[in-house]
Amino acid sequence: MPAPAIEMIDITKVFPGVVANDRVNLTIDQGEIHALLGENGAGKSTLMSILFGLYESDSGVIKIRGEEVKIKNPNDATALHIGMVHQHFKLVHNFTVTENIVLGLEPRTGPGNLDLRSAEKRVAELSETYGLAVDPRARIENITVGMQQRVEILKILYRNADILIFDEPTAVLTPQEIDELLAIFRRLKAEGKTIVFITHKLKEIKAAADRCTVLRRGKYIDTVNVADADENELAEKMVGRSVSFKIEKKPQQSGDIILKIENLTVIGAKGIPAVSGLSLDVRAGEIVGVAGVDGNGQSELVAAISGLLPVKSGRILLKGRDIIHDSIKSRNEGGIGLVPEDRHRHGLVLDFRLDENLVLKSFRKKPYSNAAGFLQFHKIAKHAQALITEFDIRAGSGPATPAKSMSGGNQQKVVIAREIDLSPDLLIVSQPTRGLDVGAIEYIHRRIVEERDKGRAVLLVSFELDEILGLCDRIAALSKGQVVGVLQAEEADERRIGAMMGGLSSEGVLHA
Ligand SMILES: Nc1ncnc2c1ncn2[C@@H]1O[C@H](COP(=O)(O)OP(=O)(O)OP(=O)(O)O)[C@@H](O)[C@H]1O
Ligand SMILES: [Mg+2]
Repeated sequence: MPAPAIEMIDITKVFPGVVANDRVNLTIDQGEIHALLGENGAGKSTLMSILFGLYESDSGVIKIRGEEVKIKNPNDATALHIGMVHQHFKLVHNFTVTENIVLGLEPRTGPGNLDLRSAEKRVAELSETYGLAVDPRARIENITVGMQQRVEILKILYRNADILIFDEPTAVLTPQEIDELLAIFRRLKAEGKTIVFITHKLKEIKAAADRCTVLRRGKYIDTVNVADADENELAEKMVGRSVSFKIEKKPQQSGDIILKIENLTVIGAKGIPAVSGLSLDVRAGEIVGVAGVDGNGQSELVAAISGLLPVKSGRILLKGRDIIHDSIKSRNEGGIGLVPEDRHRHGLVLDFRLDENLVLKSFRKKPYSNAAGFLQFHKIAKHAQALITEFDIRAGSGPATPAKSMSGGNQQKVVIAREIDLSPDLLIVSQPTRGLDVGAIEYIHRRIVEERDKGRAVLLVSFELDEILGLCDRIAALSKGQVVGVLQAEEADERRIGAMMGGLSSEGVLHA
């Protein structure tokens, strides 16, 4: 037997107020695909950041291919042939693929001459070997998120990585891109690479991983052979209780129309209509889902309703009044809550504290400000403490925790907690459970249904068909910026919605 690719032994890492890794052990064999599973805040990213030299552990030993090593920074990791693909890519958008890949180790033919030609050739070869289908000359700004991720993979392969770490690589991908990525994992494995990947999706673990290590609250729980474990068992190991994957819902009692979209056209980033002539209603007490392949106008639709993008033509009526000329702030105050798809850009102020993030939209009001306009910090902290308990937000230093130091899933819970807490008439939730663990998903789904039962109108945008089918009362399939058809939940199934997302109307007619 060759030595394991990676041995992390008794790794401990303490942050203020939290033991992120508590004597964790992890053994990864050469040439295996190993999944890392655990609740939000369990310590997965921390452990991988230690392996890649972004953090130093307080104690513990790391062995790479049998040799004890010290990994003090990412350069040490690279020298040991370890590479990491981060969840938030670090690419320069107006550079080409190859320029990004060689950044920091520019090949030169002689003094001052950058030899991009030979770099391009090598990038093309690597892309070919691993079936990545990346164009070495494409500009990052012109390629999809899925392709950008492959550029990140090429970047580490170019540096001769043979241990590849992925932190939640599938969280930003569409279902089809996920299948493709898992196929790439298998090809990397076939070429002898070792892969560690973090995911919350048990289906992906079943589909791609050989073994899976489970962490809970900073501690090592178990390592299992994936072939012998079922999804329920994995979920239970991870959260320490059984998890229900079924969403309980009472029959629907819908009321007045809260959101009425009429013949809406919105121009997208490419200068052409991303939403064209779209009409849709959402009533009080119902959840309407928008299903569609990424890039069919769902982002622009949400941006237009919330005020982030201007409307070219058509109307958006909130409780009967056209809001297209209203500011974002007055839309918020008028009763729109939004859980945006990009929590870092539109959901949080990462440099603010947790409690401040929880009052981003209400800090000017009583009780968070007094009559003279001064912030009431104890009230803000008390409010945060209540939501931390209610939504099970895990943060080392409680209300004072800086948002940027929180784990990805816990940041997402902060955004959801704030928006639900505002009790908006219209709650728009876009990819709400991205990055959440199965226990947190169960809870958030229940809360969304509760909001509906309290009479809120809910508009849900999601790439997860299971989520759409489980939660929604009506489902609108979007294709090329238009609603191809709307189905009642009872008549909807995966196949039917899938066909509609592909442009077929509910009667099976191809949409113009
Ligand atoms: N730089 C930091 N400063 C302070 N605390 C941190 C820092 N990084 C992580 N933590 C804390 O360490 C704990 C583990 O976080 P980590 O990001 O490793 O979790 P995770 O398992 O990756 O969770 P998720 O699934 O939500 O991404 C959390 O409580 C988090 O708040
Ligand atoms: Mg993480």
